[in-house]
Parts: sequence; C-alpha cells; structure tokens
Amino acid sequence: MNRIARVSEPMSHPPARQRRLRAAGLAGLVVLLAACGDERQDIFTPEGSYARKINNLQVPVFVIAGVVGVGVAVGLAYVLLQGHKRAQGDDDPRQLEGNFKLEIGWTIGPAVLLAGVAVATVATLFAIEDNPADAGQFEAMEITVYGHQWWWGYEYELDGDTGNGAEIVTANDLVIPAGVPITLNITSRDVIHSFWIPALNGTRDAVPGRVHTLNIEADAPGIFDGQCKEFCGLSHANMQQRVVALSEADFADWLDQQQEDQPMLAVGEEGAEGEPGSAGQQSFIGRCSQCHQVNGLEDEEGEPIVVEGEAALVSGYAPNLTHLMSRGVYAGGLFELYDENGEFDRDTLEAWLRNAPAEKPMYTEPESGDPRGMPNLGLSEDEIDDLIEYLQTLGDPPPLQTPTED
Ligand code: CUA
Repeated sequence: MNRIARVSEPMSHPPARQRRLRAAGLAGLVVLLAACGDERQDIFTPEGSYARKINNLQVPVFVIAGVVGVGVAVGLAYVLLQGHKRAQGDDDPRQLEGNFKLEIGWTIGPAVLLAGVAVATVATLFAIEDNPADAGQFEAMEITVYGHQWWWGYEYELDGDTGNGAEIVTANDLVIPAGVPITLNITSRDVIHSFWIPALNGTRDAVPGRVHTLNIEADAPGIFDGQCKEFCGLSHANMQQRVVALSEADFADWLDQQQEDQPMLAVGEEGAEGEPGSAGQQSFIGRCSQCHQVNGLEDEEGEPIVVEGEAALVSGYAPNLTHLMSRGVYAGGLFELYDENGEFDRDTLEAWLRNAPAEKPMYTEPESGDPRGMPNLGLSEDEIDDLIEYLQTLGDPPPLQTPTED
C-alpha cells in the first residue's frame, strides 16, 4: 500500500507520512487495548475494597505520569523544531544554560510531584495491610494458601485454633464469603510462586518456609480469576487460581458440605451390582489414594486411608478431592469441570485421567519419566469410566458457575 502511495504521490508530500504515522499510532493503540481485553484479570476493574484502594492510587499516578510524559514530548518537539528553524538561518538557538528560574523549576517540580506520589503510595500500602478482623471487629477465619508445582491448595482453620489440623482442605477454587475481608496466610511447599487475583488485591509471593499475609475482599458474589505471577517452572503459565465469593447463606452451606466425609460404597458380592460408583471407589483406593486424599475412605480393615507423612508435606502431595465436584476447575485451574451450560464436561476429565502429562506439561526432565504432578497411570478405558462414575459422587455442583465471557 505504501509502495503504491509513493508512486502516486511525490515523496515529500506530507499527507502520506501523516497517514503512516497515524496508522502506526492506531496499530499501537489496538495492541494496547487488546492487552486489556480479558476483563476477568483486569487491574483497572477492582471488585473489592483492597483492589479499589490500589486503583485509587494507580489511576491518578497514571494520569500525572501521562500529563508529564506528554508535556515533555511536546516541549522536546517544540525545542527541536525551533532549533531546526534557527539552524537554517544564521542565529544559534537561544542558550538556556544557567537559567536560574528554569533550573530551580525543573528540580523542585518533579521533587514535589514524586513526594506527593510517595506519600499516597505509602498510605495505600498501609491501607491494604489493614484487616478490621485484626482489631477484633469480627472473628477472623484462617485460610492458609499453599503454592505447589502447579496448583494452589487451601486449608481452612474454622475453630481459629491453628495447629489442630484444618477442617477443610481444598484446591484451585478459593471460596470466601462476599463482603468480608479475609486474611490469607500464603506459603509454598516447593518453589517460589506468587498469588494474584487482580480484581481483589495486588500480588503476594508464596515462599517455602515463610508465611506472607494478603487481604482480599469481594464486594459481591462472583468468580475472580488469577494467575501465578512468579515463574515457577515448566507449567507456570498453567498455574491458575480463582476466588469464588459466595453470599452469606451459600457460604454457610458450602462450609457445612465441605466438612462432610464421603461414604464407603458397598461393593457387589458374588457378581451382583454394587452401589453406583463402588467399582470406581475401589479403583480410586488402588490407583489414586496414595497422593489424593478423599476424606472418609477406608481400607479393608476399616481403617481410614490418609495421605500423610512426606506425601502430605512435600510437593508430591496432590489436591484433596473430597468435594471435587463442588469446584469449577481442576488441574491447576487449567480445565473446567462444567461447560457453559453447566453440564459436567466428561470428555475433558477423561482425557486428563487417560494421560495427564499430555494435557499439561509436567516433566521437568522429559527423559526421567517422572512428572512433577499427575503421572500417566496407564488406566484402561473401563477403569476411567469407573473412576469418573465415582468422582461424580464427590460433592454437589458449585453454587456459582463460571460466567460466560462475551
Ligand atoms: Cu507457580 Cu508460577
């Protein structure tokens, strides 16, 4: 297009150059807007008090920086053009060196501006550390967030008595009550990760051996997407998380449900059909229960099957699946359990059970055959069918489904 334009117009014709500049500017704007396309992870759309405090700081700072940036660019263009004009004549450009007023002005001006931004920034930093629960205004709920390669685990201490073991252990979907500030205790069981729900607050690193706190609050019920923000290995990009904020009533129901154990299902005796899911439950005990906890499972002697010791504490530990079906996502938030019509997405879960590392990169050393995450268990199609029948018994569907994106 440029070639034709050049042929049909003289080289020095200004409109052609203007058009090119305009096209370049427009292309830049399109790229910028496209980057802001995902509204569910948009830092300029706060959905809670903490994110709003950040937004109330960043917008004025962006505006000030923008005005300064445009002012400097216009000033520079003016000076260049003036100098260019004069250089064509005999006069040297006017020299400003040693101009007292100007030099004081452009030293004091930015200093005052930056001091103002610094005061507002420090005030915001303190404000987002503040949780009214700390002042005893209501009883705090302790939620510990664990980073794993490559998924997030959550443990809820409901009696506030830390150290007794968490009443609820879940993964990927962090469920909170809407309208209540929640302090998360964030740590990691392997490498450094970073927890980030842009609509609810800034980021906080998850560091093994340390606990960092982060406050979140959602104005209203909803689902808020996030992404691990610290490079943590092969599937860092596939380490997503969500906050599901529920109404007070829904959250109370959720708390009750999550504390229920799953029943042992009666196996059919002598060729008779067992309870639905019982074959899958036996497969699960044989194939999955070394890494995945389901509360309520018992071995042949009636002893509880518990993932513990090393497996529960190090990175080999896998998500607790007691109430799998009450979550919207699995595999580190990579896949959704339900489609846009709210129907269980069986095909995707089958593919995951068939060969998990093929669905999500997990081999840090491809030759080792030892994935950091769920391995390919070589399950038969019958076993997969049985397992899915069993997994579908684990919990009720979530009260909130993923909003459809437009
Ligand atoms: Cu975890 Cu990046």
